[in-house]
Amino acid sequence: MDSLSSSSFSPCYHLIFTALAFLLSGLIFLLSRKSKSMKPNLPPGPPGWPVVGNLFQVAQSGKPFFQYVRDLLPKYGPIFTLRMGTRTMIVISSADLAYEALIEKGQIFATRPRENPTRTIFSCNKFSVNAALYGPVWRSLRKNMVQNMLSATRLKGFKNERESAMDKLIERIKAEAEANDGAVWVLKNARFAVFCILLAMCFGIEMDEKMIERIDRMMKTVLIVLDPRLDDFLPLLGPFFSKQRKRVQEVRKDQIELLVPLIEKRRNAIQNPGSDKAAALFSYLDTLFDLKIEGRNSAPSNAELVTLCSEFLNGGTDTTGTAIEWAIARMIENPEIQTRLYEEIRCVVGDRKVDEKDTEEMPYLNAVVKELLRKHPPTYFVLTHAVTEPAKLGGYDIPKGTNVEFFSSGIAEDPKIWSDPLKFDPDRFLSGREDADITGVTGVKMLPFGVGRRICPGLGMATVHVHLMLARMVQEFEWSAYPKNSKVDFSEKLEFTVVMKNPLRAHVKPRV
Ligand code: HEM
Repeated sequence: MDSLSSSSFSPCYHLIFTALAFLLSGLIFLLSRKSKSMKPNLPPGPPGWPVVGNLFQVAQSGKPFFQYVRDLLPKYGPIFTLRMGTRTMIVISSADLAYEALIEKGQIFATRPRENPTRTIFSCNKFSVNAALYGPVWRSLRKNMVQNMLSATRLKGFKNERESAMDKLIERIKAEAEANDGAVWVLKNARFAVFCILLAMCFGIEMDEKMIERIDRMMKTVLIVLDPRLDDFLPLLGPFFSKQRKRVQEVRKDQIELLVPLIEKRRNAIQNPGSDKAAALFSYLDTLFDLKIEGRNSAPSNAELVTLCSEFLNGGTDTTGTAIEWAIARMIENPEIQTRLYEEIRCVVGDRKVDEKDTEEMPYLNAVVKELLRKHPPTYFVLTHAVTEPAKLGGYDIPKGTNVEFFSSGIAEDPKIWSDPLKFDPDRFLSGREDADITGVTGVKMLPFGVGRRICPGLGMATVHVHLMLARMVQEFEWSAYPKNSKVDFSEKLEFTVVMKNPLRAHVKPRV
């Protein structure tokens, strides 16, 4: 067959083709200019590869993500872009930009990005305070949590649970120390204590230690399967992760099978008052059973209740435990800070046990905890934000659908806003030399709980827990390095929160 050569066409066709070619190239030129002008002006960032962007660079760096980001700061500055497969991530590590986004443009930056498939399963399709899009479901769930569970009055009602968990914590530490030449694991004990408080608040039913440990183990398994995978960023790799997807389904099933009977037990206890003598007067679940959700006719299903209870437990357990581990590490590293804190405690309460109300009268304790949350915010990034509509930040475009990450650790160590930021120095807050509004309303300098509309609703309760636990632990024991005279290793590791790379084992000596 003859090929279609130009000689087979008449001169008239030549003319038509030439005109068409002109038209077409003109059109392509115009379109490409238009698409260039429509291309968002994203913040700068490291060059990536086609399709995968920076994903493999991050994965192959062998560094935890926060370290990768830290290393990019000097080169790319306070706002930069990473392309993580199909996701575009904008990382912000300046206090001014965080204020602009989360306070000044708070409503626009208040939503969350789309979930990966694993998170969709565990969040029951975004039916939780932390995962919900900015809108009616979020408003209903958050309002309920804040007003009906975490208000100051409600919190007071759980004073006994806190006191009993603190007493048990001290007993556990004493027993562990006696059996181990004075050595105790800090994180394990602290997170267990706070987990007991949150469990009691959440379910309001009695549980033995075995059950508490079972739920704790299950929660940890959930956090492990929630760890992001490569196929979350590159869905085309999905077929290589079918085993992991199956595992996700199994873990969710286990979680439901373990927690639904507890939910039913509580439902039964409040439907038949007096039937369960050990049941507490009030629990988080009670606020959820018949919760009215804007735009929905039905109350939360059992699977949704599992999600909401898990959020309550997860939100406050590792975060608080982590804060205590770093606090004790700092007490060991700085015995003079520990002594000063102990003296303040003695001065305020004498020989009696610290009560949570006492901690309000302890300015040094308050400065230590504030410095702790500055230097070691338990999560180095606040939860991922997204914009409700295309927005501008620091002059750059923030398109809808991008993940917006606030690097709170970077902000809290910024030498432009903190003096000697790497030093652990509670006095900075006492001398009036420096201050910071932890809620961010009057300005952002540190954001361990986030700021703005999505600020952690557990802030009040969490600070009560950290103050009380640290005060009791320092009142009861003198903390020092284990093995004796060894140096505390302050290396960090990402494990949902940023924990100590080598879990802290400390030596305790009872004070009395
Ligand atoms: C020291 C302890 C804690 C720390 C450091 C902490 C930190 C945070 C941070 C950084 C955020 C993200 C804010 C944002 O997205 O901008 C957050 C959100 C949240 N936290 Fe906490 N948290 C702590 C304790 C708690 C406790 C005790 C609870 C409840 C029992 C809790 C429940 C939540 C919830 C539900 C959200 C999601 C809020 C929303 O999206 O509207 N947290 N927390």
